[in-house]
Amino acid sequence: MYNCRKLLPDLYWVGANDRRLALFENLFPIPRGVSYNAYLLLDEKTVLLDTVDHAVSRVFLENVEHLLNGRGLDYVIVNHMEPDHCATLQALLARWPEAQVLCTAKAVQMIGQFFGPALAAKAQSVAEGQTLCTGRHTLRFITAPMVHWPEVMVTFDEGDGVLFSADAFGSFGALDGHLFADELDFAGRFLPDARRYYANIVGKYGAQVAALLKKAAGLDIRVICPLHGPIWRKNLDWLLEKYQRWSQWQPEEQAVLVAYASMYGNTAEAAETLAGLLAEAGVQKIAVYDVSAADVSELVGEAFRCSHLVLASPTYNGGVYPKMEELLAHLKAAGLQKRTVALLENGSWAPAAAKGMRAALEGMKEMALLENTVSIKSSLAEGQLPALKALADELAGTLAQ
Ligand code: FEO
Repeated sequence: MYNCRKLLPDLYWVGANDRRLALFENLFPIPRGVSYNAYLLLDEKTVLLDTVDHAVSRVFLENVEHLLNGRGLDYVIVNHMEPDHCATLQALLARWPEAQVLCTAKAVQMIGQFFGPALAAKAQSVAEGQTLCTGRHTLRFITAPMVHWPEVMVTFDEGDGVLFSADAFGSFGALDGHLFADELDFAGRFLPDARRYYANIVGKYGAQVAALLKKAAGLDIRVICPLHGPIWRKNLDWLLEKYQRWSQWQPEEQAVLVAYASMYGNTAEAAETLAGLLAEAGVQKIAVYDVSAADVSELVGEAFRCSHLVLASPTYNGGVYPKMEELLAHLKAAGLQKRTVALLENGSWAPAAAKGMRAALEGMKEMALLENTVSIKSSLAEGQLPALKALADELAGTLAQ
């Protein structure tokens, strides 16, 4: 049974939710599911913008069939070739073989790689700025390489001001009936997932996101239709401001992320004590996580939000505890920069975690390490409380509140 929705007089959402997938990209937990958005424009020509993941192919194909209502499908625009958006392309073209596929030259190559030369032969490459008139609508193609793959483009409907933005402006989280961000509690319910999505999926490609934002600034955008998550038709400036920040690795908030690793609770105790001292020092926004309990993608998202990081780790095999090493590797992979960082280490006989964490941070850009590093031996001793308090005060002193 179809389940499609009208967005504008001749534009429809033909996507679907997946609430069964545990790991997006077989990597990122998505306890709230994910939506795969695809769009159908019913103009004098019929145009489908992207397809969906295999998991929701049935309802997607029924959506397209229902809305076409016997009409042919003239065009399929492929903005992004990652399989969560292109997996159904072959099945779609089997039903509507007359459809002309439009995408970048790089995407034509990828269609061949994923589906073979016969399907690639149906695709025609479009160039930057090229337009397609579909009757009442004119669609402009704008390349957006590495947001998040090299073949990506976005499509702009010049008349209605609709930007089909591919992975940009997307979010984890299935859509609970409402499709538009202004109909739901985006800041409360979706923002952490939108940030986690950005930081982990396209965080590394800040420069390319910034390039896309520059191109977008020259367009009269009134609606943003991403490939995942809610659609935007109000408060676009709020969303664009988030993307401006994230693309430049500017923190969203003056806040301290305390991420600790702890084998037996002693490093945890020191980190929790530090969090209390931060609160007493007047720090308003503090978020404490056990790196073994929280998924690393959540920590990367939080690191994009917070201006300050406290990393606390026991020494393990003469180096950094593996879960903390993993976090540092992910932060580096996401290109994190421009943060103030404090270190806390534990070591029962040869503390080495701080040295290892410092070395990892030195491989990132514009990370300001605080002078104070607290080193505890096995467990926090009362005599070390002044050192911990000095660290809390130093952190508080560097926060703009
Ligand atoms: Fe949702 Fe890069 O694909």
